Amino acid sequence: MLRQLTENDESRDKPQRRDGGTLRRGLPFALAFAVGFLLGKRGDDRSDAGTFERGEGQLSEEASEIRERAMPGEEGESATGESETESADAEGATDQPSSMGSVSGEQVREEEREGEETGAEESEAEQAEEGETEVEGETATEGEVETETAEIDEEVAALSPPTTHGMPMLGLGTYQMDEYDECFESVQRAIRMGYRHLDTAEGYDNEDAVGDAIAESEVDRDDFFVATKISPQNLDYDHVLTNAAESFDRLGVDFVDLLYVHWPTGEYEANDTLEAFAELREEDLIGEIGVSNFTVELLEEAIEVADEPIFANQVEMHPLLPQTELRQFCAQDDVDVELVAYSPIARGDVSDVEELQEVADKHDATPQQVSLAWLREKEVTAIPKATSEDHLRENWLSLDVELDDEDVEKIDSIEERERIVDPDEAPWNQ
Ligand SMILES: NC(=O)c1ccc[n+]([C@@H]2O[C@H](COP(=O)([O-])OP(=O)(O)OC[C@H]3O[C@@H](n4cnc5c(N)ncnc54)[C@H](OP(=O)(O)O)[C@@H]3O)[C@@H](O)[C@H]2O)c1
Repeated sequence: MLRQLTENDESRDKPQRRDGGTLRRGLPFALAFAVGFLLGKRGDDRSDAGTFERGEGQLSEEASEIRERAMPGEEGESATGESETESADAEGATDQPSSMGSVSGEQVREEEREGEETGAEESEAEQAEEGETEVEGETATEGEVETETAEIDEEVAALSPPTTHGMPMLGLGTYQMDEYDECFESVQRAIRMGYRHLDTAEGYDNEDAVGDAIAESEVDRDDFFVATKISPQNLDYDHVLTNAAESFDRLGVDFVDLLYVHWPTGEYEANDTLEAFAELREEDLIGEIGVSNFTVELLEEAIEVADEPIFANQVEMHPLLPQTELRQFCAQDDVDVELVAYSPIARGDVSDVEELQEVADKHDATPQQVSLAWLREKEVTAIPKATSEDHLRENWLSLDVELDDEDVEKIDSIEERERIVDPDEAPWNQ
């Protein structure tokens, strides 16, 4: 194991990506070829044609099933049930028609906004030329608003998250962005703001919207860090390969930076599942192998059996669930697994915590920003989900919040505990 982990360290520092510069729609030939090759190489009767014939419709049904059955925790079950209500609210709020129509709608709105801005600049210039001094109140207010927006934009543009082995330590979560338009627009907004690490999953039913937002952006594919996940019921060897190919197709990429085992449940079997993940990495189709919702014991087993390094474990983490044991385990030199925090602001619940509010007041920040800054202090990557411009911006500006030792101690001393994603079949409940 030690030998393998040393190799892991070396391999991580090497450039991991194939040339991912071109985004393509349709099953990339190289990928289809590689998957066929891997299945053929395996040479057993599991590579039945049926696995290649699973259509989009079936995947969507499966995606619903995942949410209802295989990953009920992501619906937000909590001990108090509060988050379920929040999820329901969120779903209601996203009830929009799902079509490509809004792509052009967004462009139109964008052009309109640009037009409005240009119009405002022109009229200001005209006024200045004409030496107008009246309408003081009105002009001053407009000027103030514009200046304020410009300052915030500069503030946003000046920030970028630290990276760890090429992974930006602040990313965008996309769970529950299953309406195409909402997801596409939110991801586009996030990209404009500077977000480059995008977290999705085959079970989120939004890989197409995420992929389209990437393709439509002016940012090179190589500058993104795209992570997706294979659902529990598809974790047998064959389905890992075919479903990865289908995810790549929906995302419109021929390389994914990080591919996770979504939950160690369903068809997960360490040897079989991780063999397929390792082959995808050996074929340079994925940059890194990730696992999610793994306990220390499951992580130990995965590291032991995998032929390729386990790069990250994505788990729920925030000041109300500090994951101390996992964090200590992952930080050991001979383990060296990144922690990626999901639900990093406890779906908004961090705002009710007195200690976080106190630290937030001290830094003229919000409890959400303090939680994200605290995760950074712990060297943990965070992927808050946000749809609104305000939330995206607020989370991004957490990069400007520097906590001192006293703040971190105060947050570490919080005794309240809350686990939001807590399905019965989760490994920690066995
Ligand atoms: N691997 C797994 O099993 C697993 C499980 C759960 C989640 N995840 C991943 O982790 C991501 C994040 O976790 P999450 O979605 O569970 O929870 P979260 O990021 O902690 O919270 C998201 C919720 O908080 C709101 N929000 C965002 N920024 C805010 C702010 N600054 N102030 C107030 N409210 C704010 C969002 O609202 P708006 O959308 O309205 O902006 C949304 O309702 C997911 O999207 C997904 O990618 C993975």
